Amino acid sequence: MIKFSPSILTADFVHLGEAIEELDSAKTDMFHLDVMDGIFVPNISIGIPVVASIRKATSTVLDVHLMIDRPHRYIKQFAEAGADIIGFHTEAGSDIKETIDLIHSFGKKACLTIKPKTPASEVFPYLKELDMVLVMSVEPGFGGQKFMSEVLPKVTEIRNECDKLGIDMDIEMDGGVNLETAPLCVKAGANVLVTGNVLFSAENKAKRLEELREIVK
Ligand code: DX5
Ligand code: ZN
Repeated sequence: MIKFSPSILTADFVHLGEAIEELDSAKTDMFHLDVMDGIFVPNISIGIPVVASIRKATSTVLDVHLMIDRPHRYIKQFAEAGADIIGFHTEAGSDIKETIDLIHSFGKKACLTIKPKTPASEVFPYLKELDMVLVMSVEPGFGGQKFMSEVLPKVTEIRNECDKLGIDMDIEMDGGVNLETAPLCVKAGANVLVTGNVLFSAENKAKRLEELREIVK
């Protein structure tokens, strides 16, 4: 089954609670929370207090995407704030194995993330330890960007490697996923789709989520 992880990055934050309720009533699989520090990416978004507030508003899985420099420094805080999945970048300057172990030490799931230009093989040494791999299909930093279809072969490479190792991995795609590109992601081997602009630009988010579910069936 394909899972959807709505990104709240393009939400109207004054009405965030209502958006969460609406997506929860549409039975979203998780929420994707984009954390940016203005250093690893050229933008600043939400942080620990917002994750903690969202945790109080929903019992749905919180998929936290850390786009921050040396993320190992903040794993404990995000775990305590209520993240369920903690994703970090291979390019962010933390020891990858140590950071995965740290995430697991708090009983959370670890997701290793790669930018569009990073080769798929960067995640291969860690597949046995990981709970999820995220392949970015835009340069991280902003919502509403155009999907980079050239990253699709990397998804297939990672899926094939997992199959070879007998690992039933969650492979997530993030950036520019919409009604046209979602089927391409699934065909390439992804099973978790981050959806930001496609939902938040819709009049009715629940209906749009339903349309996305239908299109990837
Ligand atoms: C980009 C973020 C994405 C993004 C998704 O840096 O990681 O999660 O907000 O939004 P859309 O679906 O609008 O590309
Ligand atoms: Zn993201």
